[in-house]
Amino acid sequence: MSERLPIITGNWKMHRDHLEAIQLVQKLAYHLEGADYVGQEVVLCPPFIALRSVQTLLQSDRLPMKLGAQTCHDQDEGAFTGEISVPMLERLDVSYVLAGHSERRELFGETDEVVNAKVKAIRKGGLRPILCVGESLEERESGRAVDVVTEQLRGSLAGVSVTDPQDLVVAYEPVWAIGTGRTATPDDAQEMCAAVRAELGSILGEPTADHVRVQYGGSVKPGNIRTLMAEPDIDGALVGGASLSSEDFALIVAHRRTNA
Ligand code: PGA
Repeated sequence: MSERLPIITGNWKMHRDHLEAIQLVQKLAYHLEGADYVGQEVVLCPPFIALRSVQTLLQSDRLPMKLGAQTCHDQDEGAFTGEISVPMLERLDVSYVLAGHSERRELFGETDEVVNAKVKAIRKGGLRPILCVGESLEERESGRAVDVVTEQLRGSLAGVSVTDPQDLVVAYEPVWAIGTGRTATPDDAQEMCAAVRAELGSILGEPTADHVRVQYGGSVKPGNIRTLMAEPDIDGALVGGASLSSEDFALIVAHRRTNA
């Protein structure tokens, strides 16, 4: 195992307008004042319309948090009504882009092929994908969890070259744990994150896979972050619901210091 910089990402989904976004970040900064969270990356993924206001706030207040987007289009520009491209995000200081979140896969029909095109576009634009993979409850119960995740990784990373392992983050998010309050046990999460890393080893080579950060996502809360982060193959968390509460997200980010 190697040293990997922990990474905590807040995925706000379709919540908060641009004014509420400012309030949320201000409250988060207040709760984090004096907390030791510099030895890790903190990424905020607000809705597109709030990126600009959050960017301005992070810059003006010099807050050590990075900006992420929740999705993108795979083309740089063109007649794609309603879409947002990677170069547009890059100009807003966005560092990370979620790719293949289970809601995008389920509700918007994103296949591994679509996710693959997005991952390539994100890399081409110099941004970092947070590639989301995870099995459904039915797939888990039929013993296919590892196979499903393996196939998603292979499909989504086909033809993607990663020279700097910092440039790719993989989020393992069991679909049955997202927004349900049902978290995978630390053992199960570890087992799956280790399987993700093993598969990354065969796709990208072991030295690279050893340094790629793997997050766990699915009902991460202040009360379970520590045990999850204590697992050897879990390098961070992708947080949905709890990232909308400045207090909870601050506790998650500062979990090393708090008694949450
Ligand atoms: P949740 O969402 O933390 O609300 O379960 C996680 C996610 O969708 O990334």
